[in-house]
Amino acid sequence: MATPVILGVGAIAAAIMGRSLMRRGLIGGKGAAEQWVKGGFKSKMDRKEAIAILGLNATGHCFQFCFSMSDELPSSKLGTKRHWDDVYSTELTNFEEIGDEGEIWFGEDSIEKMVDWIVENVPSSLNPSILEVGSGNGSLLFALQEAGYTPDRICGVDYSEDAVKLAKAVGSSKGDDSEKIQFAVCDFLTAFPAALDADRADGEVAWDLVLDKGTFDAMALAERDDVGKHPADAYPRRIAQVLKPGGHFLIVSCNFTQEELRTKFANDETDLQYHSRIAFPTFSFGGSSGNVYSSVAFHKPT
Ligand SMILES: C[S@@+](CC[C@H](N)C(=O)[O-])C[C@H]1O[C@@H](n2cnc3c(N)ncnc32)[C@H](O)[C@@H]1O
Repeated sequence: MATPVILGVGAIAAAIMGRSLMRRGLIGGKGAAEQWVKGGFKSKMDRKEAIAILGLNATGHCFQFCFSMSDELPSSKLGTKRHWDDVYSTELTNFEEIGDEGEIWFGEDSIEKMVDWIVENVPSSLNPSILEVGSGNGSLLFALQEAGYTPDRICGVDYSEDAVKLAKAVGSSKGDDSEKIQFAVCDFLTAFPAALDADRADGEVAWDLVLDKGTFDAMALAERDDVGKHPADAYPRRIAQVLKPGGHFLIVSCNFTQEELRTKFANDETDLQYHSRIAFPTFSFGGSSGNVYSSVAFHKPT
C-alpha cells in the first residue's frame, strides 16, 4: 500500500504535471506521464518515478513547480500541426486495425464534468448549436450526443485531417446517430468553421456553445512569428466572434490557471463575461494550493 509520503508526491505530481507536461512536451512519452494525461493521475506514480519525471529533490521541494508557474510558455512540438498530424495518423491506423478510439485527453472525468456543466447550463431542450474547437477523436461530442443533444446540431473542427477522419470513422462505427455529428478540417486561428444549415444565415456567428478541451493549451505552445506575435493571442477574440449573443464558451486547460483564463478570455477585446467554473481536484504543496485542471465558462452578453 502507498505510504502517505508517496500519495502526497502523487497528488503534487498530478497537479504539477497538469501545469507543466504540455509545456515541456512530455505528454507524448510513455510511462507515468502518459498515464496521467490519458486517464487522470490517480497516485499511480511511485516516488522514484515522480522524482525522475518531475525533478523533485531529496527534500521534496520541486523546482519544476516553479518553472510551471512561469507566465511564458516555452514553445514545444505540441504547438505544431506536424505533431498532431503524426498523433492522429497513428491513432487513425490503430482505429482501423484494432478499433482503438485513441486518447481521452484529461481523462473520462473531464468529459463527465464538462457534460454535467453543459446539461445544467445549456440544456438539450434549447437545441443549441455546439462547436468543439480542436475536437480530436470526437470523444467529448459523442458523449454529448449520448446525453441527449441533437447530433446534427453538433460540429467538431480540427486542423489535423486525420483527426477529422478518425472522429468520422468512430462516429460511423457506433451504430447510432453519431455519424450525424459533423466533423470538418479547419484551422481555427485562420478560418471560421462553416455554420450548420439552420444557422447559415448567421454567418460565422453561429454557435450557442463553444467547447475547448486542451486545444488552447496546444495553441499556446506554438512559436512566436517573426515580429514576436504569438498565434494563440488571436484565439480569445475569435472565440467571441463565433459565439451567438447569449452563447457560452467552456474551456478546460492543463496549462493555465483559472485566473489566467479569466484574464485572457473576459476582457474589453472579447466582451465575454465570466460565467462559472468547474471544480477539479485540488492539491496543496509548500503552502500553496492549486488545481489539476482549470475550467472556466464564459458568457457573451445579449
Ligand atoms: C490536446 S488535443 C485535444 C483534442 C480533443 N479536444 C480531446 O479532448 O480529445 C489538442 C487538439 O487541438 C487541435 N488543434 C491545435 N491547434 C489547432 C488549430 N489552430 N485549429 C484547430 N485545431 C487545432 C489538435 O489537432 C488536437 O486535436
